[in-house]
Amino acid sequence: MDESRFNGAFRERRAPPAGALNWVCIRSTFERGNVASGGELHHMVQSISSESRHSALLAERLVRYRDLRPCTTAFIDTRTPGSTEKENFTIIGPGVAESPDQFVHIDIPHGFNVGGARQPPGCINSQHSHETAEVFIVHSGQWTFYTGVDCGDGEVTVGPGDTISIPIHVFRGFRNVGDDVGYMFAILGGDDPGMVTWAPYVFDQAREHGLILLEDGSLVDTARGERIPEGKRAMRPTSEADVARLDRLTTDALIDCIVRRHELLQEPGEGSEPVRELPIISSADGADGLGAGKINWPHGFHLHLFTALPGTETVPHFRREEEVILMHRGRLDVLLADGAVRLGPGDVLTIPIGMQRSFGNFGPERVEAYIVRGGDDPQPPVRAIPSPAHLAAGDGNLTNAAG
Ligand SMILES: [Fe+2]
Repeated sequence: MDESRFNGAFRERRAPPAGALNWVCIRSTFERGNVASGGELHHMVQSISSESRHSALLAERLVRYRDLRPCTTAFIDTRTPGSTEKENFTIIGPGVAESPDQFVHIDIPHGFNVGGARQPPGCINSQHSHETAEVFIVHSGQWTFYTGVDCGDGEVTVGPGDTISIPIHVFRGFRNVGDDVGYMFAILGGDDPGMVTWAPYVFDQAREHGLILLEDGSLVDTARGERIPEGKRAMRPTSEADVARLDRLTTDALIDCIVRRHELLQEPGEGSEPVRELPIISSADGADGLGAGKINWPHGFHLHLFTALPGTETVPHFRREEEVILMHRGRLDVLLADGAVRLGPGDVLTIPIGMQRSFGNFGPERVEAYIVRGGDDPQPPVRAIPSPAHLAAGDGNLTNAAG
């Protein structure tokens, strides 16, 4: 694996004295100085404007784990015993939810969707198929995935940090088999992932419990007294012929769709590289030079595990694709054009195309974050001209190597 092209954008930074290299503090000190000198009102206005832009950016593009808004009625199976407690999240894009109650946190098109699934022990997500790629990254808990119309084709269990990508047109479902509530990030291909195809038994069970799926993908809740609206029709349940057209995936094949966290972190050099990006879903001959992931068929996005040891910081750079950070462990400081933000486990931040960014780990533990970039051939990072905040932090020797 050739990481040199990417890791050229990074360097190790000596761990700063406690509190000394806090970007927010640097900027606040700098800005307070301007406010104190009445002749520099222009700078003060610029600072306020900058903070305002930063706040607006975060409002549009940052979703804290604690602020996630779940939907417990997102799908046809949410009344079926065993599935009533599942929480669905649509973090970026509309996802495939079938309920108008589903809240979409970020509606900026990325070319892919990011969502989440949170379920208590024993809770089931019923068998279904997708028209685009579906990838899960386990943040917490133990999860068993099943393939086949009746869960009988294949079965595999994954845990924290593991990734599973299930090919399109395959019935899949999953259950929390751990002892605690578990949470997974979910990525779907495309801006519009289309509608889910449910296994036939799902329609039968849903009707027994009052839910009818319509042809337009919405749900009618007869238990609440709702009726099928005039001019609309119930979805035709999936037939045996429909089932026969789908692909089937054995346990052995399913194992090839998994990248386990410990497989990635056992790569040669682990422990010596201060900042690394390890390919999970990545094509073999990609322009980013990061090499192939174990999962290397086209998804419409790439996925890498980013790790940074304590006391490391990347140089300022930008990218030509939407870049989404899914935080798994540790604390990551992200310095953007107009300010900084600190991410913790479960948080999601999406950075606009072309916006300068750098990453720093000033916490006590290794950062592990999953990075999603749009398209099937993301480009290498481009070094950026340092911002005033970077200059204040000692990055004045960087040159613009845009190209
Ligand atoms: Fe799904």
